[in-house]
Amino acid sequence: MKQDMIVILDLGSEENPRLAREIRALGVYSEIHPHDITAEELAALPNVKGVILNGGPNRVVDGVEIDVSKEIYNAPVPVLLADHGGDAPWPADPEERKAALSNFVFGVCGAQANWNMENFIADQVELIRRQVGDKKVLLALSGGVDSSVVAALLIKAIGKQLTCVHVNHGLLRKGEPEQVVKVFRDEMDANLIYVDAVDRFLDKLAGVADPEEKRKIIGGEFIRVFEEEARKLDGIDFLAQGTIYPDIIESGTKTVKAVKSHHNVGGLPEDLKFELVEPLKMLFKDEVRACGAALGLPDSMVYRQPFPGPGLGVRCLGAITRDRLEAVRESDAILREEFAQAGLQGKVWQYFTVVPDFKSVGVRDNVRTFDWPVILRAVNTVDAMTATVEDVPFALLQKITQRITSEVKGVNRVLYDLTPKPSGTIEWE
Ligand code: XMP
Repeated sequence: MKQDMIVILDLGSEENPRLAREIRALGVYSEIHPHDITAEELAALPNVKGVILNGGPNRVVDGVEIDVSKEIYNAPVPVLLADHGGDAPWPADPEERKAALSNFVFGVCGAQANWNMENFIADQVELIRRQVGDKKVLLALSGGVDSSVVAALLIKAIGKQLTCVHVNHGLLRKGEPEQVVKVFRDEMDANLIYVDAVDRFLDKLAGVADPEEKRKIIGGEFIRVFEEEARKLDGIDFLAQGTIYPDIIESGTKTVKAVKSHHNVGGLPEDLKFELVEPLKMLFKDEVRACGAALGLPDSMVYRQPFPGPGLGVRCLGAITRDRLEAVRESDAILREEFAQAGLQGKVWQYFTVVPDFKSVGVRDNVRTFDWPVILRAVNTVDAMTATVEDVPFALLQKITQRITSEVKGVNRVLYDLTPKPSGTIEWE
């Protein structure tokens, strides 16, 4: 193992993710583990140089104070008690905190500042090989950042022992299914099963206008298609998942209450018994992107904007029809192209188009038209809980309008959504 590690034991402090990031910012890898880890489990973790018990108000759960097992206090590495009942309070001032952390990590534990992507990847490759042995692993590869980075990491570690399944549900952005095939099958020589499930999804969705019902159908059908593919394969023991650290935080740890349940955690069919491989589960999003870049994935894959699981399905408002879905896909491609050309890619957090299910009157070549509008949306946010609207240059909006109304079939108007969140949500459904 190439990198040293400081382990934070989770006694419920909501500060732990920040603490891990502060230690990583010092150049030392840090992981958070549950408070009830046994001394043997702790000893089995690679290169642990020190342990931090970070307490805080959540240490008392339902009136009972939680603590780590007694042997942890006698671990053969330094143990720091931070904000741990009766101890000196943990410095709130950022500079003092950094000094205290630095003193513990380097001075007391003697850790080396050897956390970088190259070492992380080398260590994960070794850990994956140890876990998997000569067995086979299955991965649902959507082409999103997280699943793509997991795929690249597993291909490096175990090559053809990995089978990727890419389900094209017809709600992906223009060029995405093709890029998945090109990058993973053609360039990385992965075992990739491409499932064309477009008709199946669109048939199921036909006539369904309620947003929640649409989401349920898309999510449920996805699991069924994936399951069917999994059952066709023989001798798979492991399921890889692109779980990243924020997914785990949002789903709640043993001591911190759930913010929301997450689709990546705990959504497995009961009778498909796989052991999980989750090599990114301790990484934050920016670190996942850095890992993908270090593995040689294209920037367009690694730095892509967030895209909802139900895809374009929630941007083709009301009951989805193929022609309107095509209008969403084509207008989205134009918007992305123009934003990229204007240098806005990577600067604006999320931007996309929406096509509502009503028409308006227009005129083209002196002939009356009755077509759909396209709504443009471009927002900035830190955590997606609130969002502000991007101040897009008017000339750029005009150019995009001109292109969409002339290039996208069935569209005669373009609107720009000026609504922040709140009162609007980012998506329209
Ligand atoms: P809203 O519309 O709630 O969106 O302001 C906040 C962020 O979440 C994304 N989003 C989803 N992501 N499944 C997802 O995986 C969903 O059903 C879903 N709905 C919204 C949205 O794109 C935005 O980034």
